[in-house]
Amino acid sequence: MLTDNMEKALNKQINKELFSAYLYFAMAADLEDKGFAGTAHWMESQAQEEISHAMRIYNFINERGGRAVLDAIEKPKKEWNSLKEIFEEALEHEQKITASINALMDIAVKENDYATKSFLNWFVDEQVEEEDSVNEILDKINLIEDSRNGLYNLDKELQQRPLMCQFVPEGEEE
Ligand code: FEO
Repeated sequence: MLTDNMEKALNKQINKELFSAYLYFAMAADLEDKGFAGTAHWMESQAQEEISHAMRIYNFINERGGRAVLDAIEKPKKEWNSLKEIFEEALEHEQKITASINALMDIAVKENDYATKSFLNWFVDEQVEEEDSVNEILDKINLIEDSRNGLYNLDKELQQRPLMCQFVPEGEEE
């Protein structure tokens, strides 16, 4: 059984993960608008991952006999000034999520909630990867600066990231 405190904190994290998805979809839309189709695709994949993170927590709360409660999702920004600004903000956002996961872990440790601690270990590892992948792209953007060729190649590279799920409109199935 989850304590009320742990349950509330996990529910807040569902909201943060869904906001992350919303933020990355907004970034993808802006990237698409700016002509970075491959980078927009990368962001869409990132947004899908965030939804899967929210689902993980939702399922865990249910498994532990708790009650998942969905709150309103904050409205994300619509536009950014540059590719660099988008990834800087994405990194800043992931650092906040890491802090939030660490705060959840603190509660689990304090409450001797071993099951939640074990569940959260996956998120601790995931955050290392999330920060690293955004950081890596940011490093490349800084290296390229304003080179059109470099930006073109980076966009093509980011296009390679697979989506977690493909939504095929009805009637267009193979
Ligand atoms: Fe689910 Fe990117 O944190």
